Formats: sequence, C-alpha cells, structure tokens
Amino acid sequence: MSWTILVTGGAGFIGSNFVRYLLREYPDYRVINLDKLTYSGNLNNLKDVARDPRYEFVQGDITEESVVLPLVQRSDAVVNFAAESHVDRSIADPGVFLRTNVEGPRVLLEASRESGVKRFVQISTDEVYGEVMTGSSRETDRLAPRSPYSASKAGGELLVQSYHVTFGVPTLITRGSNTIGPYQYPEKVVPLFITNALDDRPLPIYGPGTAVRDYIHVVDHCRGIDQVLHHGIEGEVYNIGADNSVNTVDLASAIVDYLGKPRALLQHVQDRPGHDQRYSVDSGKLRKLGWSLCYTFKDALEETIRWYRDNREWWEPIKKGEYARWYDEHYKIHETPHES
Ligand code: NAD
Ligand code: DAU
Repeated sequence: MSWTILVTGGAGFIGSNFVRYLLREYPDYRVINLDKLTYSGNLNNLKDVARDPRYEFVQGDITEESVVLPLVQRSDAVVNFAAESHVDRSIADPGVFLRTNVEGPRVLLEASRESGVKRFVQISTDEVYGEVMTGSSRETDRLAPRSPYSASKAGGELLVQSYHVTFGVPTLITRGSNTIGPYQYPEKVVPLFITNALDDRPLPIYGPGTAVRDYIHVVDHCRGIDQVLHHGIEGEVYNIGADNSVNTVDLASAIVDYLGKPRALLQHVQDRPGHDQRYSVDSGKLRKLGWSLCYTFKDALEETIRWYRDNREWWEPIKKGEYARWYDEHYKIHETPHES
C-alpha cells in the first residue's frame, strides 16, 4: 500500500510530530502538509524532513475550498489536526475558533465527500466530555463541553459524524488527552512551566492548582492516531489517554525539582474562568485495536524537560515575538494573586 496522506495543521505541535512519525514508519507514503501558519504553526518544527522528496508543504487555510479541494483530490486519506487549540485564547476571542474548528472540518468533509477519500480522521479532544470529577469517560458518554474551545471541537466532531451518517464519508474521530513532548508552543502549561523555570521566572498556577489532567507523550498520541487511521472502524470514535491524573501543583513541583530550581517559583494566580477541574478517558476501545502506551508519565515529562533544556534555540525566538505580547496581556488578567 502506498498512500498519500493530507495532514492539516502539520506545522503545529502534534501535527508536526505526526508528519515525522508517518515518514519514519511508512517509507512508501507521501505526506502533504496543509497549514496556514498561524501563531502556533512553525516550519522549524519540520526542518529535518523539509527536503524529503515524499513530503510537501502547502501554506493555506482549511476554510478555503479552492485550496482544500485539489489537495484532497490528490490524497487517499485526510488527518485533520488544524485547529485553534488554546483554551485561554478561546475565552479571549472565540470567533476564530468557530471558523477553524467547525467551518474548517465542513470544508474538508465536503472535499472528501466529492473526492471519495478512503479515510477521514478528525483529531478531537477529551475536553468535549467536559469536566469529569469521577471515573473515566467512554466514547458513548454525552458531550458536555464547557469552554468556547471545547464547544468548537465538539461542533466539529458532530459535523464529522453527520457526514458519515448522511453521505457515507469514511470518518473516524480521536479524542486525545493533554499531550506533551517536543515542539509544543510554550503557551500550554508544560512547555510554559519548563521554559519559565529555565529562565528563573515564576510558574503561574491558576487558582489552587488542584485541576487534574491526563498527560500523554506525543509519540503515544501519534501511535494511537496511526492505529485508528489504519485499523479503526468507520464512523467510530476512539479515546486516546495515558491513565494518569496529575494536578497543576504536582506538575509544577516535578518540573522545578527536576531542573534543580526552587519551589518558590510556583506562584498562584487568578483562576481560568470556567476551569474544568478534571478530565479522564477510558482508552480500552483503542487498546482492543492493538495500541498500548510506550511512555510512563515520569519518562514523558522528563524527556520533555530535557528537550526544552537542550533546544533553547527553538523556543527563545518564539517567546520574544507575538508570544511576549500575548503573555503580558493574558497574565496581566491573572496577576491578582489567588486567595485560598
Ligand atoms: P497547535 O496549535 O500546536 O497547532 C495547530 C496547527 O494548525 C498550527 O500549525 C496552525 O498554523 C494550524 N492552523 C490553525 N488554523 C488553521 C487553518 N485555518 N488552516 C490551516 N491550518 C491552521 O495545536 P496542537 O496542540 O498540535 O493540536 C493539534 C490538534 O490536536 C488540534 O485539533 C487540537 O484540538 C487537538 N488536540 C490537542 C491536544 C493537546 O494537548 N495539544 C490534545 C488533544 C487534541
Ligand atoms: O485535554 C486536551 C486539551 O489539553 C487539548 O484539547 C488542548 O488543545 C490543550 O491546550 C489542552 O488543554 P488544557 O486547557 O487542559 O491545557 P493547558 O496547558 O492550557 O492547561 C493545563 C492545566 O494547567 C489546566 O488545568 C490549566 C492549568 N494552567 C495552564 C496554564 C497555561 C495553569 O495553571 N497555568 C497556566 O499558565
């Protein structure tokens, strides 16, 4: 089998790791990466494969039909990573989340329906289940998103399901948990805390820091998506999680301890509005397809810390540009200390 895979959002964090993964694991595949290069898209994430003859980059927007259709027509499968991905930005400016995360899938689905692709994989998130204080979400549980980001991702998913039922598009959906590893834009908590700690800057913890997340290494997440792409049942949804529950204070403490920095760097600030306190997914359905984890949480976190420690030339320029403006503006809102 020799497929051409259209990866959208392939210049972002998980997408770039997935492009690299596909080229490494499938020597006969070709990969087209369609990415708008928003603030979080970065071609430096794929420097090592840029000259691979099996890889092609196209700068463009998934909401533009004239860009999308010819690329889908050349592809056997579409894997849609392209999204606005940061919850805090969705609270500040929801409009662009609806355009990219709902209208984007519609345009990709229309093109896929017209072209007759073999597989359409929508990369979604465990956040569509909303806050889950006990137990673990299963794929049949109801969707109850609580932030503009997760509502837009749930909207995108529902559209994907509708194209399967109505038009027979061979869709699959993955719901991944909080992903960590190399090339993650340092607005997300793990690279933010690591890079701040490396620079001896405070680690801003929202509220009491008791919110729990399930952190998975990006390679394990990519391996799960691969399994679904090749072996998932059309029309189905698959959770991808790592079965750990780590709160923000413990996460921040592990990072500063590993780097030999003082715990005094932990700084409680005002909470995120509508902050979901816990997510947890049951990945049994994916395991039945033959997937299992390669990383423990400890290994995933420590490898990630070492990558940021050893790759300052990747993140230092990012933290000086648009990021610095976002950081000053956003963390000004949070600057009132949290009162316990
Ligand atoms: P990211 O922000 O690092 O990357 C998003 C990429 O999409 C960027 O390269 C950006 O340029 C591109 N993009 C944005 N709008 C676009 C548009 N209109 N047209 C074309 N390209 C566009 O995000 P990420 O963390 O890599 O997340 C990738 C996907 O995985 C998203 O769909 C996200 O919802 C999902 N997800 C993320 C996580 C996580 O923890 N990061 C967990 C589960 C699911
Ligand atoms: O669960 C999957 C989701 O994980 C993905 O769908 C999203 O794209 C991804 O951004 C991520 O969302 P979260 O909101 O869980 O991730 P974030 O890194 O923003 O925050 C993780 C936890 O850390 C959360 O409880 C909020 C807290 N936090 C975050 C930041 C940025 C802080 O305490 N301080 C911070 O400065």
